[in-house]
Amino acid sequence: MYTPSQFPPTSVSVDLNALGHNLAHVRRLAPRSEVLAVVKANAYGHGALELTRTLQQLAVHRFGVATVDEGIVLRQAGIHDPILVMGPTVPAQFPDLIAHRLTPVLYRSDMVQAFAAAVPPKAAPYSVHVKIETGMGRLGVHPPEMPDLAAMPAFRATLRLEGLMTHLADADNTKTTHTETQLTEFQQTLDTLRQGGLSCPLIHAANSAGIIQYPASLYTLVRPGIMLYGYHTLSNETPAPELRPILTWKATIAHLHNIQAGDSVSYNRTFIAARRSKIAVLPVGYADGYNRLLSNRGMVLIGGRRVPVVGRVCMDMTMVDVTDVPGVHIGQEAILIGQQGQERLTAADLAAWQQTIPYEVLCAIGQRVPRHYLPLRSDNEKSSPKP
Ligand SMILES: Cc1ncc(COP(=O)(O)O)c(C=O)c1O
Repeated sequence: MYTPSQFPPTSVSVDLNALGHNLAHVRRLAPRSEVLAVVKANAYGHGALELTRTLQQLAVHRFGVATVDEGIVLRQAGIHDPILVMGPTVPAQFPDLIAHRLTPVLYRSDMVQAFAAAVPPKAAPYSVHVKIETGMGRLGVHPPEMPDLAAMPAFRATLRLEGLMTHLADADNTKTTHTETQLTEFQQTLDTLRQGGLSCPLIHAANSAGIIQYPASLYTLVRPGIMLYGYHTLSNETPAPELRPILTWKATIAHLHNIQAGDSVSYNRTFIAARRSKIAVLPVGYADGYNRLLSNRGMVLIGGRRVPVVGRVCMDMTMVDVTDVPGVHIGQEAILIGQQGQERLTAADLAAWQQTIPYEVLCAIGQRVPRHYLPLRSDNEKSSPKP
């Protein structure tokens, strides 16, 4: 067993109280819906197991992952609550999925047939969710096919239709037409199925943007991901939801050196100093998830100031210009994401510099960056509803 070093050159800390704050905001917006916390992709880079355990303490008892393996990792760590595998699956994975009591999302009639055939009699009736395609253009049964699919004999004996869901493609947009059309189509499909005598306990459509912007998307279950982690992708025109980013990413200055005007920094000499400059070397690079697109674009915080990334981000190192930082020294803290003094950098800032979304910035933080957790205070637990 490997013991991590005590002084990692770069590390992440996650404030579990801020997670509690963001969850409380989900519950305020969707008071009548159960929460299924989306913890896929290692809880968007934050650490799936630690976050799932904390969410359990906060009375969340349903989780969403993308893959069978992500579900197995949680099961093997002792998470016994329902886990929905929301990504695509193939019949070869069904035995593992069933052995670990994971819940599949089914989205074709041949898949329903194949899944039912894989369920051993002692595991029946086995709970499944069915996804309806309303405009995401990804996975889902087309509404006209739903009545026939729901009437398949598999649902009378082997399978229990526990959930009906759809996914919103454009709920963070200021234009509402596409989302409204999706929600109308979803509701009409549900009405048709109900008229045919079908009842299903869990109905769900809302991701974070749906929860924040579309009360009509709040059914019996909601599926927040990014807002639990303190971010959103709504336009600046929309009033900012009360969310707190839960992750801070740090590095410590590993080396300092002075260069002359005309000297260059890093591969391919993309930065040439215009003046005598002091350069700090940070022990973090694109192998840690600090994207190479941040070369000559990104900023980090040192001594409470924003300082620019100079030259190409390397695999394991990044250089920043600290000429204007008084008293700068080796071992000093640099903040890549987070607060230092009055200054703050968020995953949304990095996303803007590297032309992506905060989701990708967070998910990309690499495995070799250790995660530490600021524990939940007891007042946080007390304020959550009892399961
Ligand atoms: C099916 C499904 N539901 C919910 C979510 C959560 O979305 P968000 O992180 O935008 O809240 C995702 C994430 O992509 C998803 O794929």
